[in-house]
Amino acid sequence: GRVCLAYSGGLDTSCILRWLLEEDYEVVCFLADVGQEENWDEVRAKAKKIGASKMIILDLRREFIEQLCFRAVQCNAQYEGRYLLGTSLARPVIARAQMRVAQEEKCDSVSHGCTGKGNDGIRFELAFLAIDPKIQVIAPWRIPKFFDRFQGRNDLLDYAAATDIPVTSTKAKPYSMDDNIAHCSYEAGMLEDPSVPPPDDMWTRTNDPRTAPDQTVDIAIVFKQGLPVELRVGDKKYTDSLELFMALNDIGKKAGIGRIDIVENRFIGLKSRGCYDSPAMTILRLAHLDAESLVMDGKVRSLRDQFVTHHWSELLYNGLYFSPEREFVENSLVFCQKRVNAEVRLRCYKGSVSVLGRSSETEKLYSSEEASMDSLVDFSPVDTTGFIHVNAIRLKKYGLQKVEEGQS
Ligand code: ARG
Ligand code: SIN
Repeated sequence: GRVCLAYSGGLDTSCILRWLLEEDYEVVCFLADVGQEENWDEVRAKAKKIGASKMIILDLRREFIEQLCFRAVQCNAQYEGRYLLGTSLARPVIARAQMRVAQEEKCDSVSHGCTGKGNDGIRFELAFLAIDPKIQVIAPWRIPKFFDRFQGRNDLLDYAAATDIPVTSTKAKPYSMDDNIAHCSYEAGMLEDPSVPPPDDMWTRTNDPRTAPDQTVDIAIVFKQGLPVELRVGDKKYTDSLELFMALNDIGKKAGIGRIDIVENRFIGLKSRGCYDSPAMTILRLAHLDAESLVMDGKVRSLRDQFVTHHWSELLYNGLYFSPEREFVENSLVFCQKRVNAEVRLRCYKGSVSVLGRSSETEKLYSSEEASMDSLVDFSPVDTTGFIHVNAIRLKKYGLQKVEEGQS
C-alpha cells in the first residue's frame, strides 16, 4: 500500500518512516509549514535519505491564521480559562492538507507519530475520518508490533543507528515542544512535576519579561466584523493578515507577553501540565475583548460568552472541528461579530499588555452623554425607582420567607 506520513524530521517520525518501509509500504511524507522554526531543506533531504518516495512541504500559514487563529480571536477562545489553543487550532489545517496530499498521491492510508495518551492523535484521526470515512489510519504508537519493539527513546536511537538514520537533533530537549505561528507548547519530561517551575531557557516565542526593554510600545489594532484588519505601530502600518500577525508576535516577543504555565484536562481524562507562549494571540485576545466592550450589545455578549466562547474552545480542544456542532456554533459566532467594528489602542510593556483607549466611527451603542453622571437629557430618574421596585418583588418574598424561618 501507499501511505502518507506526517513527517517532522525528528527521531520518532524518522523511525516510523523507516519502519513503514520495512513493512513494505511506499511512503509519501508530508510536512505542514504552520510557522514553526524549521530547516526545511534538512527535513527534505532526511526524508529522501531514509527512503521516502516523496517529501511534500506546504505553506499553510495564511490559511492557519485566517481560518483558525482569527476565528479564535473573534471568539475570545480559551480552554479552561487560560490556554489559547495554539496546538489545537493548527490541527484541523494540518489534517485537511494531509488528506489533500493523500488523495492527490493516491494513498489509501495516512500515518502520524502521536502517542496514545495525548490530544493530538485524537484530533488528527477524527479529522481524517470526517474528511474521508474510508481512509486507513496507521498510528504506530498504538500498534503492539511497534510499541513492543520500541519502548523508549533509547530503542529508537539504537534503531536509527542500526538502519543508518541520521540523528540531527542536537542533544534532545528535556521536554516535548510543538511550535507554530500561534504559540510554542512545552510538555512532558522534566515538566511533569507540576510544582517545579519551568527552566528560564525553555521559552522560545517570548523573551523574559524581567529583561524586556524599559520602553513601552504603543500600538493600535483595527477590527472589522471582529477580524483584525489593521495594525499600527509608530508610523508603520500592517494590513496583510500574515504580516500583521508576525509583527504582533515580534512586538509581544520583545516585551515578553503571553506566557502561561497550567495544568489542563486532556480529552481522554488525564491531567497534564503544559507551558505555552503565545504573544500575538494574547495581544489580539485582549484587543478584541475590548473592542466588543464598546460596540457589542450586552445581552448578546452574555449569551455569546456562555455559549459560543465556551463550546467553540472546547470543540477545538477536543478535535471536533469537522463536526456539525462546530459549524453550528461558528455560524452564531460570525453573526455576533457583524458590528464589532472598532479601533483599540494598547500598550505593551514588560510582560503585559494593557488598553489605552478604544473608539468606533460606525457603531453607536456607547454614548458618553447618556452614560454621563452629569446629564439628564432623555432620562427620567423617577423611572429607575419603578425599575428597582419591580425587580425587588421576588427578592422581598424570598427575604421575608428567610426571616420567618429564622435564618436571615
Ligand atoms: N496540550 C496541548 C494541546 O493539547 C499541546 C499539545 C502539544 N502537542 C505535542 N504533540 N507536543 O493542545
Ligand atoms: C502526543 O501525545 O503525541 C502529544 C501530547 C498531546 O497530544 O496532547
